[in-house]
This record gives sequence, C-alpha cells and structure tokens, in this order.
Amino acid sequence: MKIISSIDELRDQLRGQLRTAFVPTMGNLHEGHLSLMRLARRHGDPIVASIFVNRLQFGPNEDFDKYPRTFQADVDKLEKEGVYVLFAPTEKDLYPEPQEFRVRPPDDLGDILEGEFRPGFFAGVTTVVLKLLSCVQPSVAVFGKKDYQQLMIVHNMCKQFALPTKIIAAETYRAEDGLALSSRNVYLSSQERAEAPVLFQTLNAVSNAVRDGHSLLPDLERNAMRTLADRGWQPDYVSIRKRVNLLPPSADDLVQGTPLVVLTAAKLGGTRLIDNLEI
Ligand code: PAF
Repeated sequence: MKIISSIDELRDQLRGQLRTAFVPTMGNLHEGHLSLMRLARRHGDPIVASIFVNRLQFGPNEDFDKYPRTFQADVDKLEKEGVYVLFAPTEKDLYPEPQEFRVRPPDDLGDILEGEFRPGFFAGVTTVVLKLLSCVQPSVAVFGKKDYQQLMIVHNMCKQFALPTKIIAAETYRAEDGLALSSRNVYLSSQERAEAPVLFQTLNAVSNAVRDGHSLLPDLERNAMRTLADRGWQPDYVSIRKRVNLLPPSADDLVQGTPLVVLTAAKLGGTRLIDNLEI
C-alpha cells in the first residue's frame, strides 16, 4: 500500500485509473470501516482510502483535539484489506491556504437533526468531501448508513454538482449486542459500553410501534426520549422521518406507507452517539 500525503503525488499515482473506489475516513479504523473497504472492492479497483481528521467539521466545543488518532494500527488494517493507496494528507497538504470557499448544504437538509445540534458540521463535511473527491477522482465512493444524514447530503451534493462519482451506501456494522460501531465508542467507560446498546433497542422499539400502526409519531418520539433520559442519557433527538428527504411524514405518508427512518443522537456520559434504523 502506498501512503501518500501530497495531492500532486496522489494524482500522479492514480492517473489513468477509471474505476477507483474511494472510502474517506477520519481514521481510528474499526470493523465498520473495514466493511466499507470490502464493499468498495465489489464496486471498483483500485481501492483508495483516506485518513484525515477534518477540523472544519468540528465545532469549537467538540472533540477535534482528542479525536482518537491511531495511524500505524490503521495502516496495518488497510494493508490487510488490500487497499492500494492511503491518502493521508496533513492539514497543510489539504488546506495549504485557509479554505475560504465552502460548500453549504441546503438549510432544509443541513440544518435539521445533526445540523441543528452541530451547527456548521455538514458544511465542514461537504467541503472536505468535495475536496477529497476532487483529489481522488473516484468512480465510486462508499459512505456508511450509520451517518444517515451525511450520506444523504453527500449523495445530493454529488448529484447537484454532477460529479462523476457514484455514492454507494453501506449498511451499519453493529457489535453483537446491536451497538453501531463508531470511532467514538472508545470514549465509553465499561459501564457506559454496557448501557450503549439501549440506543439501538430504543430505535427498534420505535420502529416496531410504527410498524404496528401507531400513528402518533410525536408521542413515540417523546416516549423514546424519556426512556433514554430516565436511564441517564441526554438525548438530543429521536425523530421519525421520511427516508427520501428526512422531513417529518404527514398523515398521508403513513397511510401510503412512505418509507421511513428513525434517527437518534444522545449523549451517554461525555460521549455523543448517533444511530438510525430504517422502518
Ligand atoms: O464520516 C466521516 O468519517 C467523515 O465525516 C468524513 C466523511 C470522512 C469526512 O471527514
């Protein structure tokens, strides 16, 4: 595996490749990331991964400085997955001058749910993703459904800018007890780790209630928030949305069986976890 930090070198290395499959990451790789690499392999060749902890998507009080950085362990894992190039730029490589041009997602998608609680987050994500796509020029790029809203925003950005990259969605990789794998799980104490699967159980309970025909969605959302709060979580939201645009479903949507998803974000101790489940 070639480890490349400069954009020019990356372009030289990938020149002429027409089927590059790309997996962008922020490192601290776990089985979830590796499942994205395996999916990438089914859709293209060579596989390019990136590791870049993108300052632009962290708020002033978020965990940019303490975000887990495990570069050598990540390299070993990617070698084993047969990744051809790891693009690991420094901040100076990717942002040699202040990144003043930004991509701003539409408010109705970028400022809801995660965007409401993490202002500027999605503009940081779309800006770096556009830049990474411009560097790698892949034919496909893989994003996990764990970050459901991010996946939708990146997909819509590529479509609206007519980028020649197809976005592939990967299913969420879960531990046996249901907890979605996330780099931030390393922050959990052993007691919190034991509690953490309750988030996915809560999503399942909401999903089952909707499937059983409960149509008072705000009540279901409120009850789920209360259940989490009673167990010591600090939930930001539990929200049932339409899969197509993440807007709240109308009564007609429920009658017509419009595909839905329930999304949540909640803090357990100092760790903010997100998860979702298609209903
Ligand atoms: O999902 C992530 O790890 C990041 O948001 C991404 C897509 C690598 C952009 O920094």
